Amino acid sequence: LSWTSSEIREQPLVLERILRENPAQAKECARQIKDRGVRYVLIAARGTSDHAAVYAKYLLGSKLRLPVALAAPSLYTFYGTPPLTGPDALVVGLSQSGASEDIIAVVRHARSQGALTLAITNEPTSELANAASLVLPCLAGPERGVAATKTYTAELACVALLCASVAQESGLFAELAALPEAMDQALQTEQAAAQVAAQYCRALLAVCLGRGYNLATAYEIALKIKELAYIHAQGYSTADFMHGPLACVEPGLPVIAVAMSGALRDDVAASLSRVGQRGGQLIIISDDEAILQSAHASLPVPKVPEWLSPITAVVPGQWLAVHLALAKGLDPDRPRALTKVTVTR
Ligand code: AGP
Repeated sequence: LSWTSSEIREQPLVLERILRENPAQAKECARQIKDRGVRYVLIAARGTSDHAAVYAKYLLGSKLRLPVALAAPSLYTFYGTPPLTGPDALVVGLSQSGASEDIIAVVRHARSQGALTLAITNEPTSELANAASLVLPCLAGPERGVAATKTYTAELACVALLCASVAQESGLFAELAALPEAMDQALQTEQAAAQVAAQYCRALLAVCLGRGYNLATAYEIALKIKELAYIHAQGYSTADFMHGPLACVEPGLPVIAVAMSGALRDDVAASLSRVGQRGGQLIIISDDEAILQSAHASLPVPKVPEWLSPITAVVPGQWLAVHLALAKGLDPDRPRALTKVTVTR
C-alpha cells in the first residue's frame, strides 16, 4: 500500500481531529474577524492550497457575504507594487508547509499594513505561522506522499469550521459533525475509481469540470491526475468551458465531471449533456442518481450539504489519480520532478 493511499484513508480521522481540537482557535479567529469589522478577504496560496482558496472564495462569499480575492504574489515579490490592504481586510496564507516565500511575503506585507492576518497551515511552527497574527492548524499529521490528499481536505475543513464559527449557526456545526462518517463512505469509491482508471489509463488528455463550490474539486482532481499519472488534465468551470474549450471536445475525450445536487445541479447537468453530445466520455462524480445515469462511468458519493460537498467529492478523484498511476506502472508516492515542499518566490 502506498503512503498516498494510506493518507487518503486517514481523511475521516483527520476531519474528526479538526472538529474535536480546532473549535476554540476557530472561535478566537471569528471573534477577531468580527471585532475588526472585516469587509473583504485576500488569500495567498499555491498548488493544491490554491484550490482550497477557491473553495473559501465561494464559501465565505455565500455564507458570510464577504468578497474574497486570490492574491497575486509576484506583485509583492518581483514587481514591488503590493496592493494596499487596510485594517478591514483579512489576509490569509493558506499553505500545507507554511514555507513558500511568496505566500509569506503577502502575509507579512498585509500585517505591516495593519490587516488582520491568518495562517491556515499544517505546520503551525512554520515561518508563515510566525508571520501571521492568527493560526488555524490543519492537524493532518505528517504527509509523506508528494501529492497532497489529507492536507487538502484538512484545509477545506478548517475553512468550513472558520466559516461556521463566524456565522455562529448551530445548523452549520451539526452538518460539519456528520462529515467524518460521510468521508468514510466516500472512501468506498476506490474500486469503482480503479475500474475507471483501467479503462482510461491510455488517455493523454482529460478535462475536469465543476462549478460553484466544486470548481475547487475540478481543479484539484485535474492537478492530482497531472502529477500522479502524467495525463494532462485541465480543470474548468462548466460555465467557462462553454465559452470556448467545448470546441476541443473530440469523441472519446475523458471528461471527469463533479455534478453534485444543490443550486448548480441543473445548470451543470445541461452543460454535461452538451459535452456528451460532442462525444466526450462522461465520468461523473455525483450524489444524484439521475445525473449518474447519464454517465459513461459513474462514481457515486454520499449526499452531504452542498457547502461541504467538496470535502467528500474530491475523494473518488484522489483514488482515480492513484489508480491511473498504478495502471501505468507508476509509483504514486514519487511523481517525477516533484518534491514534497515547493518553495516559490
Ligand atoms: C499537491 O498535490 C502538490 N504536490 C502541490 O500543489 C502542493 O500542494 C503545494 O506545493 C503545496 O504548497 P504549500 O505547502 O504552500 O501548501
